[in-house]
Amino acid sequence: MIYAGILAGGIGSRMGNVPLPKQFLELDGKPIIIHTIEKFLLTKEFDEIFIATPEKWVLHTKDILNKFNIDDERIKVIQGGIDRNETIMNIINTIEKNKVITDDDVIVTHDAVRPFLTRRIIKENIDFVLENKAVDTVIPATDTIITSKNGEDIESIPLRNEMYQGQTPQSFNINSLRANYNNLSDDNKKILTDACKIMVVSDQKVKLVDGELYNIKITTPYDLKVANSIIKGGMAND
Ligand code: CTP
Repeated sequence: MIYAGILAGGIGSRMGNVPLPKQFLELDGKPIIIHTIEKFLLTKEFDEIFIATPEKWVLHTKDILNKFNIDDERIKVIQGGIDRNETIMNIINTIEKNKVITDDDVIVTHDAVRPFLTRRIIKENIDFVLENKAVDTVIPATDTIITSKNGEDIESIPLRNEMYQGQTPQSFNINSLRANYNNLSDDNKKILTDACKIMVVSDQKVKLVDGELYNIKITTPYDLKVANSIIKGGMAND
């Protein structure tokens, strides 16, 4: 089975003083999360599409699905977890309540607040994860990356042509991701905010899929302005 997990369990604190978690803010007349869900619905390969939101936003999510005439029996809206990886684990645990998860089953996870992903990116995630245990979507770093532990002096300047910026989707063989996650200590679980890092620290290979410059994550009010410009400029037409 091929599952999709749309991660919308956050509250968007970096968006500042807004009335709704950022995934529900409007972009070109539609909530951001609706743009994202529509991209997933175009992909027929998905057997089930899970949307995980904070508990008190589950009903609101169902309401906006109705409002925007999204009625697809593959969609299930569930409660997310206390952090992003726990949201992924909640989705996996929900799958398991109804089905046995086999070693062939995979999940394509995606930030609800990246509405500009393309069918090509989704398709490549699916193709690659069926052959590998884990996949990340990345773009080459264009700025030079500086590392600094104290935030005051440079520690190192890694070779730019070996640097990439992580995007999503991130896709996983479900049993492999869960086994590696369960092997982590509670402290490590709290530190490893990136799901691919679970695989990297467990010495598992993670394949790369090319992302797109415009597959941005809407994090701050500035990003929302950029997202509006991307739509108005027709930059993300797939
Ligand atoms: N996310 C999630 N479950 C959580 C936390 C985050 O599913 N417990 C999701 C967010 O809803 C978002 C994605 O992970 O779609 C990327 O996270 P981020 O941009 O950090 O979202 P927030 O946690 O909402 O933002 P902030 O850190 O500003 O509060």
